[in-house]
Amino acid sequence: MYEGDIASVLLTEQQISDKVAELAKQVGEDYQTKASAGDLVLVGVLKGAVMFMTDFARALPMPAQLEFMAVTSYGSSTSSSGVVRILKDLDRDIAGRDVLILEDIIDSGLTLSWLLRNLAGRQPASLEVCTLLRKPEASKIDVPVRYVGFDIPDEFVVGYGLDYAERYRDLPYIGTLQPTVYSS
Ligand code: PRP
Ligand code: MN
Ligand code: MG
Repeated sequence: MYEGDIASVLLTEQQISDKVAELAKQVGEDYQTKASAGDLVLVGVLKGAVMFMTDFARALPMPAQLEFMAVTSYGSSTSSSGVVRILKDLDRDIAGRDVLILEDIIDSGLTLSWLLRNLAGRQPASLEVCTLLRKPEASKIDVPVRYVGFDIPDEFVVGYGLDYAERYRDLPYIGTLQPTVYSS
């Protein structure tokens, strides 16, 4: 599939699933003791986080409510446009709830800092972030990220939910894209 477009495999299916299990175990331990008004609320950021969200929720050793938000900052470009648009909002109230945002990747941190400000305004009992991938740029910004799967180099990656122009999300692994794909 997509032969010739992938330059290298950065993370295999096995590496991803091991990490998802590890993150879910850690989150389970951290939240088990919390006196919450209900189940943990997972907020998956569509579309990129969809694979991570579904695998993470099934690996989590505690009940969780699955909610989604769709925001976009990239369009079909490989770099951030600086504009975050809300395409689909949460359809449940998160006031008084323990909320964990699930992201596939933090690059410039723009999407996440915007989202954190937005969700914090809805008065959740707690608000944390779990991202599968984080790029070097993201460590410079002042966004608290409690759980990070992998710190990766500053290369454009696709697969396991991550797209380039809406393609490659369906790859089961994460790989780097041949520059020819986006430079032509
Ligand atoms: C991608 C990715 C993150 C965000 C990270 O989403 O899934 O949500 O960009 O970039 P940032 O840290 O520079 O803001 P995108 O906007 O491409 O939408 P998508 O998830 O639907 O692909
Ligand atoms: Mn996204
Ligand atoms: Mg995208």
